[in-house]
Amino acid sequence: MSEHLITAAIAAMDKAYAPYSGFSVGAAILDEYGAVHTGANIENAAYPQGCCAEASAISALIMAGGRQILKIAVAGRGEVLCTPCGGCRQKIREFGTAETQILICDESGLRQTFTLDGLLPHSFGPDNLNR
Ligand code: THU
Repeated sequence: MSEHLITAAIAAMDKAYAPYSGFSVGAAILDEYGAVHTGANIENAAYPQGCCAEASAISALIMAGGRQILKIAVAGRGEVLCTPCGGCRQKIREFGTAETQILICDESGLRQTFTLDGLLPHSFGPDNLNR
C-alpha cells in the first residue's frame, strides 16, 4: 500500500535542486482523497531561502485542494536516516495527526517508519488555537 508513496518520494529526490549541499531529498504525501503530492528540496544562493522537500510537497498538497497528511514518505541518501528537520515536523503537524505515518527511505526503499507523535511529542498545533 505504501509502495507507491515510497517510489514517488524516491523519484522526487532525483528532481531536487541542491547544488550547494549536494544532498537531495524527496517527499511524497498521501492525502485524504488518496492522491499523492510530491516535492523536493530547492536550494538558493541566499542559503536560508532554500526550501525543504517536505515543505514543497505540502505546497503541492494545498494547491491541489488536499488538507490532510495521512502518510508522508521522505527519501534521502546516506548512512544516517533522513528524518524531517524540526521545522518540517511542525509543518507536517499542521495537516497531520499524532498517528500520521512518516516513512523514512533511501534510494533503495523504506528504512524505518515513525509516527508524527514519535518525532514531535507534545506538539503545538491547531488544537491549541481551538481550530
Ligand atoms: N532537507 C530537506 O529537504 N528536508 C529535511 O527535512 C532536512 C533537510 C534539505 C534542506 C537542504 O537543501 C538539504 O537537505 C541539506 O540540509
